[in-house]
Amino acid sequence: MHDTLLLFGATGDLAQRYLFPSLLHLLRDRLLPGAFRIVAIGRSEHDDAGFKDWLRDRLGDVEARDSAALDDLLARTRYLSLDLNDVDGMAAALSQYADRPSVSYLSTPPDLFEPACRGLKAAGLLEAPSRLVLEKPIGRDLASARAINATLRSALDESRIFRIDHYLGKAPVQNLLALRFGNTLMEAVWQHRWIASVDIIVAETAGVDGREGYYANYGALRDMVQNHMLQLLALIAMEAPSELCADCIRDEKTKVLRALRPMTAADVATDSVRGRYGNGVVDGEAVNGFTHDSDVETFVALRAYIDNWRWAGVPFRLVTGKRMPSRTTEVVVSFKPVSHWVFERPDRAHARPNRLRMRLQPEETIELGLMGSLAAPEWGATELQPMSLDLSMSSTPARRIAYERLLVDALKGDQTLFVRDDEVEAAWRWIDSVSSAWQAAATPVHDYPAGSWGPAAASDFLPVTLSTNGHRR
Ligand code: BG6
Repeated sequence: MHDTLLLFGATGDLAQRYLFPSLLHLLRDRLLPGAFRIVAIGRSEHDDAGFKDWLRDRLGDVEARDSAALDDLLARTRYLSLDLNDVDGMAAALSQYADRPSVSYLSTPPDLFEPACRGLKAAGLLEAPSRLVLEKPIGRDLASARAINATLRSALDESRIFRIDHYLGKAPVQNLLALRFGNTLMEAVWQHRWIASVDIIVAETAGVDGREGYYANYGALRDMVQNHMLQLLALIAMEAPSELCADCIRDEKTKVLRALRPMTAADVATDSVRGRYGNGVVDGEAVNGFTHDSDVETFVALRAYIDNWRWAGVPFRLVTGKRMPSRTTEVVVSFKPVSHWVFERPDRAHARPNRLRMRLQPEETIELGLMGSLAAPEWGATELQPMSLDLSMSSTPARRIAYERLLVDALKGDQTLFVRDDEVEAAWRWIDSVSSAWQAAATPVHDYPAGSWGPAAASDFLPVTLSTNGHRR
């Protein structure tokens, strides 16, 4: 395992909220090498002691229980204030860390990837076996993603590039693979012949707060669908890999993303809805709407089709939004009705199709909706009712936060849960088709009140399993 981590963007939001807490947990649990060291790099003009005070302050409350681990983390950390556009300055400050294999983690906006690579190269920090980790967004469209990938390729080999999609580090997301490929039952029915539709919903109660500048340039389509939602779709729809090697899985995901049917201007009116939250109430608190003057969406609903043998004609409904009534990440697979209905009650029109509902966040549950006869046996017609088989683990083990898993994998060099260049580009190709279609069709952005399930126009896109708690569906 590599033992030097150079963390760029060390004073940023992600580092504060996820990366340092993850490192602290990993140190506490002795999952990092004895000689592990962190070079924290930021623009803020802290000196080393000033940065540590600042970090202790940020982590103190949350990590009060782990004060020994916090001391350990700070003792292993050194802060450097660097201008990433100054190649010579970077080379001078960082070349001393080229003595041991390192992982450089760019938790920075994408426009800094290129200068950072130049500085790291000049410092000798991109020589094999050192690695580079990048946070999303990898570009804003296909052209910019290609340019970033070309820059990366000119600096180091793809086998040493780790593009993060933190959803892949979530244990319940990995469980999708376990469910699909560890069970005979699934494979037999996992195709268009038996499946009517697939819903993927990622609803958040959080708003855009504090990230207006970034968000106004991206919107929900680029912020959530291009990466997290298409990764979920790819894991659900991919063929079984021949083995669980990183490229075996990434090959299969990429094939799915390439098979996504491009959206056209003629499709968008029926197959997409854009929304943006206004003032409203979430979790009992009044919140302000997103009022940036760009026409960016905070909610998107899409109907996607995968044009291949397995999924021909099956709609995948993707819905994501901010300021929804509850935080819910869910995948619902709805099966086709039985081929011939023999019961009087309910009649065929009222029979409920089987549904597999996998809830990934906030709690992890799996439920299979079936029809059964629960009434006491009496003379007369057999009456069927919907029932639900709870397949959740009786006690879900405590799951690590996604970044803990991803940091360890990057330090070990396991690319399985990281996104490859062609995969990112295939996802952008489809996203570009949606955004150009929106442009060509002048697709409106509907308002919805914060705390609702999105614009009225999107109600057909929401999974029927969603608990709407009295809210309009
Ligand atoms: C990030 C997006 O990638 O994922 C955010 O930029 C979003 O806008 C977040 O809030 C959601 O992640 P999670 O793990 O809270 O579901």
